[in-house]
Amino acid sequence: MSNVLRTAIVDPNDQTRDSLKAMLLGMDIVWLDAECSRYEFFADVVEQSKPDAAVISLDGGADRALMLMEKLRTSSPDCVLIAVSKSTDGQLILKTIRAGAKEFLPLPCDVEELHVALERILQSKYGSGADGRARGCRMIAVAGATGGVGCTSIAVNIGCNLAMRPENSVALVDLDLALGDADVFLDSIPDYSLVDVTENVARLDFHLLRKSLTKHSSGLYLLPRPVQLQDLELITPESLRKVCGLLRASFSHIVVDISKSFSQVDLTALELSNEIVLIVQLDLPCLRNMVRLLMSLQQIESIRDKVKVVVNRVGLESGQISLKKAKETIGREVFFQIPNDYRTMVEMRNNGQPLIEQAPKAAITLAVQQLTDLLAGAEVITTEAGEKPALDKTSSSNWMNFWPGKGGAKAKTK
Ligand SMILES: Nc1ncnc2c1ncn2[C@@H]1O[C@H](COP(=O)(O)OP(=O)(O)OP(=O)(O)O)[C@@H](O)[C@H]1O
Ligand SMILES: [Mg+2]
Repeated sequence: MSNVLRTAIVDPNDQTRDSLKAMLLGMDIVWLDAECSRYEFFADVVEQSKPDAAVISLDGGADRALMLMEKLRTSSPDCVLIAVSKSTDGQLILKTIRAGAKEFLPLPCDVEELHVALERILQSKYGSGADGRARGCRMIAVAGATGGVGCTSIAVNIGCNLAMRPENSVALVDLDLALGDADVFLDSIPDYSLVDVTENVARLDFHLLRKSLTKHSSGLYLLPRPVQLQDLELITPESLRKVCGLLRASFSHIVVDISKSFSQVDLTALELSNEIVLIVQLDLPCLRNMVRLLMSLQQIESIRDKVKVVVNRVGLESGQISLKKAKETIGREVFFQIPNDYRTMVEMRNNGQPLIEQAPKAAITLAVQQLTDLLAGAEVITTEAGEKPALDKTSSSNWMNFWPGKGGAKAKTK
């Protein structure tokens, strides 16, 4: 399954090639697979990397470019050809179309025009999803308001639930760079980590990417955290963007287990995500952190509207705050609740089996399944009352109740 258009470009002129390349790299519907400065090598490049579309400049020698297109038409008939040129001579355009080009765009290229042309090709190649929406990769981040709140358990199970559906291809990225344990939950010993994929991102094609990930029996692909602490600094916001770009081109869903450090790398993942699940438990320290986190995340435009509060371990007796009180405190609807079931969760982790295999009928399994469904299909999330959840601004003062000196007795820490 492909969600973006894989492209390759040939242009002997470094300047125009670089500017076309920059345009393509800036489009989230495009993955640039290969670039080439020589017409004579390009047919081999296309044969090897098998892009969906090739952008061919005519200005480094129109005759050679036209011959190349004729060749590609037979050697790589699935690759859609897009010709670009500074010349808008009618004869040249005609020859280009006859040589097999599907689109002709004048240089300097208008970015909007290029985007529309590529979108048209994407649409004609892959059509729309079953629900009529254009296909795209959905990225779901799972973050937590405190350590041990259940992020990895939930992220792994969302990933496995999604991966078990034949129409999906799913990758789980473990962003808990220092202490991540998603590999334990999936009972796998990965050969490669996020560091390997980061270092080779420019060279990986789809097949190599999948080989670099570890496949679980559910179909879920895992990209684990680095092995060595010394390598942590190699994972930067910039490198993560590149890796996610590559994953987006190859998978229908990416699930990210966010670390509790809320570093720049974590925030980048939140920015890139379509859905952010923020896990909380109904105890005072956790709710206090949730209030702080929501206040901070609320200030980041690319994040704030995507955050959904999920309460985990509902029903755990000792010292739990009521759901009603918790809602008042965080000033936001609770998107979903997951019941407490320690035994099933621990067995799931120890056996390296997702809930759906470990305990298919358990209430917790059904709950995580339902959460998965909501996240997978959620364009607009509604509350039980059918309203779009939003920060209840009138109750924001309640947040302050947890801050020492800002509110009532609940501000006290234990
Ligand atoms: N709904 C639940 N009911 C009972 N136990 C749970 C539930 N969810 C998670 N747990 C348990 O809580 C513990 C912590 O879970 P997990 O490792 O998934 O949390 P985490 O937020 O990823 O932790 P960390 O901060 O260490 O990364 C595990 O023992 C897990 O089995
Ligand atoms: Mg974890």
